[in-house]
Amino acid sequence: MPEKKIIAVMGATGAQGGGLVRAILADRTGQFLARAITRKPESEKGQALAKAGAEVVAGDADDPSSLERAFAGAYGAFCVTNFWEHLSTEREGAQATAMARASRRAGVQHVVWSTLEDTRRTVPLDDARLPTLQGRYKVPHFDAKGEADRVFAEEGAPTTYLLAAFYWENFIYFGSGPRKGPDGNLVLALPLGGAKLPGIAAEDIGKCAYGLFRRGTGTVGQRFGIAGEVLSGPEMAANMGRALGRKITFENVPFDVYRGLGFPGAEDIGNMFQFQAILGDEFVRSRDPERARSLNPELLSFDAWLRANAARVPVA
Ligand SMILES: NC(=O)c1ccc[n+]([C@@H]2O[C@H](COP(=O)([O-])OP(=O)(O)OC[C@H]3O[C@@H](n4cnc5c(N)ncnc54)[C@H](OP(=O)(O)O)[C@@H]3O)[C@@H](O)[C@H]2O)c1
Repeated sequence: MPEKKIIAVMGATGAQGGGLVRAILADRTGQFLARAITRKPESEKGQALAKAGAEVVAGDADDPSSLERAFAGAYGAFCVTNFWEHLSTEREGAQATAMARASRRAGVQHVVWSTLEDTRRTVPLDDARLPTLQGRYKVPHFDAKGEADRVFAEEGAPTTYLLAAFYWENFIYFGSGPRKGPDGNLVLALPLGGAKLPGIAAEDIGKCAYGLFRRGTGTVGQRFGIAGEVLSGPEMAANMGRALGRKITFENVPFDVYRGLGFPGAEDIGNMFQFQAILGDEFVRSRDPERARSLNPELLSFDAWLRANAARVPVA
């Protein structure tokens, strides 16, 4: 039997990387071994991955030399940054650069980089429809990732670009779930501007990344935008209502109102939703459930995700 090839997984204790580690471990006869990279191998999550069968090694994206050690001997690397831990585009860019460079130095043969669009390519800084943030961004957490695509290419890291969609888990963890309206009925409120929203179960992102590694290096240089399903606001509210056994109506939040909510990142996310609405059908086409299903046949629809998760959606 040929020797198994190591995939070094950044973000292994998180949603995207965790999904990939679990997909590798679940495929016992598959060709890959999972190397989970974390800043805290001794943490509960690190230990759980070790117990499940992953090799768990220390690595910190803020410490480039630690990544070179963590990627050594790996065939593949899954690279993801966590903007929301620090909200710094500079730090996200430096972390992505460290990952690209470590991939090249370690001779990694296939990198999957979890990226997003640089929105300034379609909505330039002088386009007043979206307020410019921090002097040089429209959607900082998208733009910094999109900007880093070039770094992977310049470093010569053999990279496939994976564009994730809105996690349906945001309805559980990010305060995006339904709230009680003045009449006591539930309201799902999002700034969609009439656009449909490509969404996905977070676990499916890692499973799609696994599909890319299985497909092989022929995908290098290509972009794969994925979603589990693309639904309008009223469709999401209706599906959620059926799953919760409650009436839920959809309310569109004006972009300016959302940007003004005042939580960290509100302007960034408000701009993100407006960017998606500006692109309209083009944005919808950029996240294709059929393409995602070809990588991950277990891809969940929103209804399937709700069957497993509706009880965890907090209802305020
Ligand atoms: N929420 C959405 O709808 C959505 C949609 C598309 C894309 N995204 C993007 O997804 C990214 C986050 O991915 P996620 O949801 O999988 O993350 P997550 O579940 O929040 O977990 C964060 C992961 O990043 C790791 N990490 C953070 N800083 C690190 C560092 N300096 N060195 C090494 N590892 C580090 C953590 O590992 P340890 O703590 O174990 O070291 C952890 O595994 C964000 O950048 C976001 O923009 C989110």
